[in-house]
Amino acid sequence: MSAIKVSEGIYSVGILNPNMRIFDIVMTTEYGTSYNSYIVKGENKTALVEVCHASYFDSYLNNIKEVCNPKDIDYIILNHCEPDHSGALADLLDICINAKIVVSKVGNMYLRNITNRSDYEVIVANNNDVIDLGGKTLKFISAPFLHWPDSMFTYCEESSTLFSCDVFGCHYCEPYTFDKNITYPKGYEDAFLGYYNAIFGPFKKFVLAGLDKIKNLKIDTICTSHGPVLTSEHRLEYAMQKYQEWSTVTKSDVLNIPIFYCSAYGCTEKCANAIANGIRSVLPSANVEAFDVNYNDISTLAEKINSCDGFAVGSPTINSDAVAPISNLLNCIDAINCKKKPALAFGSYGWSGEAVPNLITKMKTLKLDVFENGFKFLFVPSEEDLRNAFEIGREFAEKF
Ligand code: FEO
Repeated sequence: MSAIKVSEGIYSVGILNPNMRIFDIVMTTEYGTSYNSYIVKGENKTALVEVCHASYFDSYLNNIKEVCNPKDIDYIILNHCEPDHSGALADLLDICINAKIVVSKVGNMYLRNITNRSDYEVIVANNNDVIDLGGKTLKFISAPFLHWPDSMFTYCEESSTLFSCDVFGCHYCEPYTFDKNITYPKGYEDAFLGYYNAIFGPFKKFVLAGLDKIKNLKIDTICTSHGPVLTSEHRLEYAMQKYQEWSTVTKSDVLNIPIFYCSAYGCTEKCANAIANGIRSVLPSANVEAFDVNYNDISTLAEKINSCDGFAVGSPTINSDAVAPISNLLNCIDAINCKKKPALAFGSYGWSGEAVPNLITKMKTLKLDVFENGFKFLFVPSEEDLRNAFEIGREFAEKF
């Protein structure tokens, strides 16, 4: 991609990566991504907002050179320091020899270890600090945990443009820069929601706080850090509304206490149903549904485990551990927002029975409120085992 003019004095100089399929190890991206970066030219000074992934340095530098001499860049602004936006910084400092780095106070703590150098000048941007480029001012708006502790927005009032960091972005790549050119809207919306869920889902209250900080700004353009630039004529309003909607949590009046299990021979499944009946006996109006993890979509189950009021999870012991589908489900837990959520482990075993204690260890690591020692039983549950499972369900229900 070459440099593209966004508006008067603002240029997109980022990099497209349409072939990326896995981002940050844990995120799949069906639609590639882009590493967006922008140059803002004032009458007197020039700023570069966001940098780029280290792997694309040469192409990135070529894009910058289409807009200005890198030596004329006065400020390199990092809205947060994650390496997809700061990876090329260390090399760029050798080229942009007159640039000062602008980061938040927390961001300044990360810079040295991200660049492994200290020969740079930093301007620490506090909330509402301004840099005047001449005819364009850049205001910095603190936005902690959107999605890093050091995150901030940069706002150019004269251009009604918000440089939004990762907020409102997505892993979606088309050869066009703007939202008006999206040729596969369904794909974009899928990527936009997926990105929100993965990156901002754990930080909903911070999203609302961030939206509150920008609600009175006149914003016609949002220069995101991934995906299309958003414009007021097209998807800008949609993006802001969706973030507001998705971040507003409404608490159900009905308790949701799902039970997730895997069962090779129906033993753990019988126990799951007995525990469910025990819970229902104490909480008759609660929604207590049992899900065989092998026969349900993992993203649906992930949503259930993260949004429920508490849950039980059951696995037989195979090869001295819980089975992989159950471990995978626990790996989907949003540990930030599920802290102290009641959780119970159970399962059948034949030899040594490590599944239940291992699940308990894992759930304690996630800081869940784990119910005692869980419940495990040998091979096929006897009538007594099922009575005990029912009783465990009753006791677990007392926690709500
Ligand atoms: Fe796109 Fe949080 O980095």
